[in-house]
Amino acid sequence: MINDDSFTKQIIGINPEPIGIFDLHASKHEEYKKMIINIFESADNKYKQKFKTEPFTEHICNNLNQNIFVDFPLLNKLKIEINQMIIEFIKDIGYFTDEIIITDAWLNNASAKSKLEWHYHANSVVSGNYFVNYNPNYHSPLLFWNDRVRLSMAERFPSIQIQKNSNKNTVFNTNVIGTNPKEGQIILWRSQLIHGYDLPNKSDNRLTLSFNSIPKICTDGNGRYSFKIEV
Ligand SMILES: [Fe+2]
Repeated sequence: MINDDSFTKQIIGINPEPIGIFDLHASKHEEYKKMIINIFESADNKYKQKFKTEPFTEHICNNLNQNIFVDFPLLNKLKIEINQMIIEFIKDIGYFTDEIIITDAWLNNASAKSKLEWHYHANSVVSGNYFVNYNPNYHSPLLFWNDRVRLSMAERFPSIQIQKNSNKNTVFNTNVIGTNPKEGQIILWRSQLIHGYDLPNKSDNRLTLSFNSIPKICTDGNGRYSFKIEV
């Protein structure tokens, strides 16, 4: 028997993952919300999409050659603000960038019963979601897969598993990690994070605006493995 004072312990987390949470001022959010609801109500059919994998969700501008900020320029002020948030997110976590390009942006209207399949965004560095109409009592939160758990499940080589204690949830054994979004918030993340939600929405009109972005200059710092996007 070891005495209680035989050792002390600390268990620390490494590989931290930044998630940016930005709150729009309430008056700005109300202005953009009205515009976006109006777009949903009046957009031409050529801008609307429904995908087999999400039968209860309607999208606007989620096709190649469509971008909500290009096809609906009345949202330009919102685009400028999201642009600024992405630059601050990249700078705050310790990298240089002065210009980013929102390469893709689209709207999502998720009805009751809808889920969002687990996925990540290719061809992007920072992705995000603006929660336009969102009530946490009825709408599902955005969740992220815990890379630590996901990677060990995805690797198909022989491995040793230890049974999970389902009565003890920690950041090290949980499959998914939530963000508890609020309406009017914009959440940013590294585009390769797998995200979605498998808890169906309990009511209609979970409205979000999704986007992808890439810094205009991507460089290793020496200019050797680098490129600059000219638009
Ligand atoms: Fe996504």
